[in-house]
Amino acid sequence: MARILITSAIPYINGIKHLGNLIGSQLPADLFARYQRGRGNEVMFLCATDEHGTPAELAAAKAGKPVAEYCAEMHEVQADIAKRFGLSFDHFGRSSSPQNHKLTQHFAGKLAEAGLIREVTEKQVYSNADGRFLPDRYIEGTCPNCGYEKARGDQCENCTKQLDPTDLIDPRSAISGSTDLEVRETKHLYLRQSAMKDQLDAWIDGKTDWPVLTTSIAKKWLHDGDGLQDRGITRDLDWGIPVKKGDEDWPGMEGKVFYVWFDAPIEYIACAKEWADAHGKSDAEWERWWRTDKGADDVRYVQFMGKDNVPFHTLSFPATILGSGEPWKLVDHLKSFNYLNYDGGQFSTSQGRGVFMDQALDILPADYWRWWLLSHAPESSDSEFTWENFQQSVNKDLADVLGNFVSRITKFCRSKFGEEVPSGGEYGEHEQALIEELTKRIRAYEAHMEAMEVRKSAQELRAIWVAGNEYLQAAAPWSSFKEDPEQAAVQVRLGLNLIRLYAVLSAPFIPETSARMLSAMNTLDTSWPEDVEAALNALPAGHAFTVPDVLFAKITDEQREDWQTHFAGVRS
Ligand code: MF3
Ligand code: ZN
Repeated sequence: MARILITSAIPYINGIKHLGNLIGSQLPADLFARYQRGRGNEVMFLCATDEHGTPAELAAAKAGKPVAEYCAEMHEVQADIAKRFGLSFDHFGRSSSPQNHKLTQHFAGKLAEAGLIREVTEKQVYSNADGRFLPDRYIEGTCPNCGYEKARGDQCENCTKQLDPTDLIDPRSAISGSTDLEVRETKHLYLRQSAMKDQLDAWIDGKTDWPVLTTSIAKKWLHDGDGLQDRGITRDLDWGIPVKKGDEDWPGMEGKVFYVWFDAPIEYIACAKEWADAHGKSDAEWERWWRTDKGADDVRYVQFMGKDNVPFHTLSFPATILGSGEPWKLVDHLKSFNYLNYDGGQFSTSQGRGVFMDQALDILPADYWRWWLLSHAPESSDSEFTWENFQQSVNKDLADVLGNFVSRITKFCRSKFGEEVPSGGEYGEHEQALIEELTKRIRAYEAHMEAMEVRKSAQELRAIWVAGNEYLQAAAPWSSFKEDPEQAAVQVRLGLNLIRLYAVLSAPFIPETSARMLSAMNTLDTSWPEDVEAALNALPAGHAFTVPDVLFAKITDEQREDWQTHFAGVRS
């Protein structure tokens, strides 16, 4: 039994995620986790909310809530939606957890001990009225370029010019509106990534099985221009993990927190400890996933993320881990995604454009979305969601192919043989031909799933459904029944066994439907079809079943048009 550690990029806390976010990491990670569990491997699948940084503070302010309260609430909202989408995390943690506070401070301490942190004095805007330093985007004023009065210290929204806070005319605090601002000196910590360049370079050279897309992004950051830059890992914010060296205070760093991108990936590890603590397990139980000196040397670690996250996962986080000098598990395989677009434009959280996870579940069950998203995953290039395409996939793949197969065979059996698997002779020539085809296809499906080729896996699964339909169409038990009921009984027995087989194979894509199929087949046998012929004899003659309700309802043209109109604007 292999042990597989899987993490999905942790979603920002500020708001409900859209379908583009979902297919960019959490959903394909879930597909892989479910598949690996289905193969009998031991899986630890972790995700969390990414709760620190300016966006969290701003979102809380907008909601009129203290940031800790806002994050706690939004975490519950995201956890609930994730569950309803069938995301099977072993733990859904929080980057603001006490465990992550401790571990992040621990890493900073180790990096300091190793001489990998330097202190830098910088000039920054301080607001006397607010009693704090202001991040660039917390400063407002008049744009020197276009005269817009509400330009932000990092950029003018009106003319898009990139700005420095000192460029603004009549600058004021975006928090209080105060103009009592001054430029002060402040100290920050930088991680000396430049000193680790060769170590990172060598580590990436060892990753010969990584896609070129991934290694080329990493190599670009390592070698282009002046090479890998040192990275600021502290910020002047209230909300975040206080800067400490392990348990000790860090002189000169009072009132500062770690930068969100420093503590977020460390949450991948802290999340495992949260999992252990939540279940009353010892540290040894999470450390066997993460510490190579405590059993994690035989763990395979796979990360899922959007392409914009690749540099952080190939360089920054490995720099933290390698720099600590401690035996933490490093990523083995990294699967990254392009973007999903929405109906001729982009999905956008800030503009509320597209379909958000909660809205999706309001109109259709999770499996409809899971199937479309996974079978159209933006792997080799960006892909696009359109309502026409969605309707077509659901109606053809799910309703016509899979749903129809299940409905036809169960109803036919009920009407001619009753609600149990009919007895009859051995499988004949046609059945053997199908078994042969399925064996080939299932082995191909396994290979694609193993390689995390999401679209190819979906195509193969669909072809497996189609093969069953074609067999049924050719065998036509409804005709053979008249002359040769025994022959029809064999065909129906095969068909009913195919339903169980399909449920097992399809579970990673459409888990709810798979569970309904198994329950209709009245079986708990979810064993993987290593031997297809044996798998098609799992339900013996006389085994009782029930006819399930329609598995997938077709999307009508009217529904499609309604949704198209409803989701054309922006979410308020
Ligand atoms: N919240 C980030 C995003 O959505 C991802 C953080 S991934 C981690 O882009 F590595 F930092 F955890
Ligand atoms: Zn401007």
